[in-house]
Amino acid sequence: MSADYDRIRHVGQRLCKELATQDAEGARLLKQAIGRKGVPLRAAGYSEALPVDNKSRLPLLEAHDTPDVPIFLDERGKSSFDAFLADATHFDKLVARGIASRLALMLSGPPGTGKTLLAGHIAAQLGRKLYVVRLDSVISSLLGDTAKNIRGIFDFVAGKNAVLFLDELDAIAKMRDDRNELGELKRVVNTVIQGIDSLEAGTIVIAATNHAQMLDTAIWRRFPYKIEFGEPERDLREALWFHFLGGNPADEVASRMLALLSAGLNGADIQELALAARRSAAHHDASVDMGSLACTLMRRYEGKNAAPDAYVADKRHLVETLVHRHGVSQAEVARFLGVSRQAISPYLKHAEDGH
Ligand SMILES: Nc1ncnc2c1ncn2[C@@H]1O[C@H](COP(=O)(O)OP(=O)(O)O)[C@@H](O)[C@H]1O
Ligand SMILES: [Mg+2]
Repeated sequence: MSADYDRIRHVGQRLCKELATQDAEGARLLKQAIGRKGVPLRAAGYSEALPVDNKSRLPLLEAHDTPDVPIFLDERGKSSFDAFLADATHFDKLVARGIASRLALMLSGPPGTGKTLLAGHIAAQLGRKLYVVRLDSVISSLLGDTAKNIRGIFDFVAGKNAVLFLDELDAIAKMRDDRNELGELKRVVNTVIQGIDSLEAGTIVIAATNHAQMLDTAIWRRFPYKIEFGEPERDLREALWFHFLGGNPADEVASRMLALLSAGLNGADIQELALAARRSAAHHDASVDMGSLACTLMRRYEGKNAAPDAYVADKRHLVETLVHRHGVSQAEVARFLGVSRQAISPYLKHAEDGH
């Protein structure tokens, strides 16, 4: 049922041998059948039966595909990511030397910074299937069923050599507020811990939380590997802009400028703004108007709304910000806005006149 073709052939061959003396034709047909090439499960219309919540009948976890967006991490994040992958890959060697620890990785940090995406990349890099548990749906069930659901999840992944991903783990801690049932909360937390403890050595479990401080220390202790996500720094924002603008070498200057102007934005914000700008450019068969993208960004960042003549005023503000605050050369600002070097100085002159 899990399309383990090797095992089917193995068992099939044994059956063939037994059959051969009593039913030569049956044995021949069976031999022919097991000699065929395996059909990929999905093409065969097979879908894995996932455990479901008793009341809502909704699946408690879902299998995710390989992500199509690359992950951008800062230096620390990248080295933790690589270290985890290396330990997972060489797990047997670590066991042999008695220095293996549980392959459990905790991702913490604000939303939109790439935690869910990173879990997808870990599974993809290791060639394992990713099962994502949405704890909020696991929890919104009949009182008392939550612990049962959690057990169901751990039973389901046992022996699957997959990556189990407990996304938004803080949903558990939030139960404290939503239900005046401290007894149930304790039971649920304990069930998660038991579940993690019950996993075979070498099983990968990843958890993500937006509220690290809400998690029980007993849970934290189960995760020897940790990656903390924060608001992306300038270099990281530059890489994100470059990628989401389309990755053309022509956008290098723009990515650098936009990175300067987008402190406080995360990867999801940058993706959204870059894609919106590219879509609107596509409507006019044009390339992205970087000046107006930068102005949108500044308005957003500074919490302002657009006034009727905002664009001109904003552009002046934009040029001043880049030159005076970020020390960008006028030549580079000109390249960024796609205008001549001469077109830049009037913006700055105005500022000097005004003071
Ligand atoms: N560090 C990053 N690298 C690449 N893409 C990112 C990054 N952070 C966010 N994104 C984009 O934003 C989307 C949402 O990020 P997600 O992984 O769901 O964040 P989180 O789980 O931390 O809330 C991602 O699918 C990706 O397109
Ligand atoms: Mg997420």
